[in-house]
Amino acid sequence: MKIIITGGAGFIGSHVVRLFVTKYPEYQIINLDALTYAGNLENLRDIENAPNYRFVKGDIADQQFVDELFAREEPDAVIHLAAESHVDRSITDPLAFVKTNVLGTVHLLNAAKNLWKPLGFEGKTFYHVSTDEVYGSLEMGPDMFTEETAYDPRSPYSASKASSDHFVRAWYHTYGLPIKLSNCSNNYGPNHFPEKLIPLAIHRIRTRQPVPVYGKGENVRDWLFVKDHATAIDAVFHKGKVGDTYNIGGVNEWQNLALIHLLCDVVDEKTGQMPGTSRQLITFVKDRAGHDLRYAIDSSKIMNELGWKPSVTFEQGLAQTVDWYLANAEWLERVTTGAYQDYYLQQYSN
Ligand code: NAD
Ligand code: DAU
Repeated sequence: MKIIITGGAGFIGSHVVRLFVTKYPEYQIINLDALTYAGNLENLRDIENAPNYRFVKGDIADQQFVDELFAREEPDAVIHLAAESHVDRSITDPLAFVKTNVLGTVHLLNAAKNLWKPLGFEGKTFYHVSTDEVYGSLEMGPDMFTEETAYDPRSPYSASKASSDHFVRAWYHTYGLPIKLSNCSNNYGPNHFPEKLIPLAIHRIRTRQPVPVYGKGENVRDWLFVKDHATAIDAVFHKGKVGDTYNIGGVNEWQNLALIHLLCDVVDEKTGQMPGTSRQLITFVKDRAGHDLRYAIDSSKIMNELGWKPSVTFEQGLAQTVDWYLANAEWLERVTTGAYQDYYLQQYSN
């Protein structure tokens, strides 16, 4: 089986690529990524020479490129993660999100449909990886997003992801494209770009800079270790029902301020600082526009139907994450200075 994984140089994509390359040596994995600021091939150094792995640089917003790639490679499956993924960036540059997340997804859907329709779609899979943010914002309380929750996206990012989800389902109903879809909560773990809350806070604590908390820090997110998202994607890809959607989450809700307190304490402990030292870096800043209050996801469908569950507790996952960032200070340094962007040229220019 030949699989194109889009966005494989990003945070989650790199964990998915590694899992598939190592767990399924009989599959050929093509990592298709434009290497935007969020794409970092250094994330995949350990497997870049594996015989069943290849990297292709390209932009999914370019229909001609996508069509030619599909015609040349004739993939059997697509696992689509490539996206503009940061909510704050979507507020300042929404069009970039429409181009990649909406148009890019439609280009992939068209290319897959055109390649697979003459073959009757037999044994083919288009798997779209999406987010819980499409469901909107919850009040404090026991409510959770289920697969039946009506879409109510509120940021340009979530609107673009919701739109892409609708297009994916439209290609299933209209053309019979064999699709699968999952909507996941906030991921954390190694290789997370330090614009997102957890890696940003670890980086700021390490370098003794203010740790910005939006508003009063009362917003709630459900956090899942990135390697557990990768195993969930593996489960949906192999065992999920065609046409179905699966919610994925960690059953692990945290208010931002409580999370940052915990993170400060874990870093203090691991770096031998006096308890409470890093909490002094917390700085309350202007709130995000349209800031969704709470996300909480009901993962019972994937747990009951596909037998998936998270492998680590939050305490274990967070400890592993902090250990990884402390041991990989050079990765953070290269990402924050931009030096990581030279890696593609050094590694792939001849
Ligand atoms: P990321 O920003 O770390 O990585 C995105 C990758 O896509 C990068 O490697 C980038 O170079 C690539 N890319 C961007 N535009 C492209 C284009 N036009 N053509 C080809 N490649 C392009 O994102 P992430 O956090 O790893 O998220 C991956 C996917 O999972 C996204 O679809 C996101 O919506 C979804 N998701 C993320 C989270 C999360 O917590 N991070 C949670 C649920 C779902
Ligand atoms: O829920 C899944 C989504 O989680 C994914 O689809 C997105 O791609 C991913 O970026 C993430 O979105 P969030 O907006 O929830 O993640 P972020 O890390 O940007 O912010 C987490 C929370 O922390 C949110 O309430 C905003 C807040 N925050 C964020 C930053 C960057 C701060 O208080 N300070 C900050 O500096």
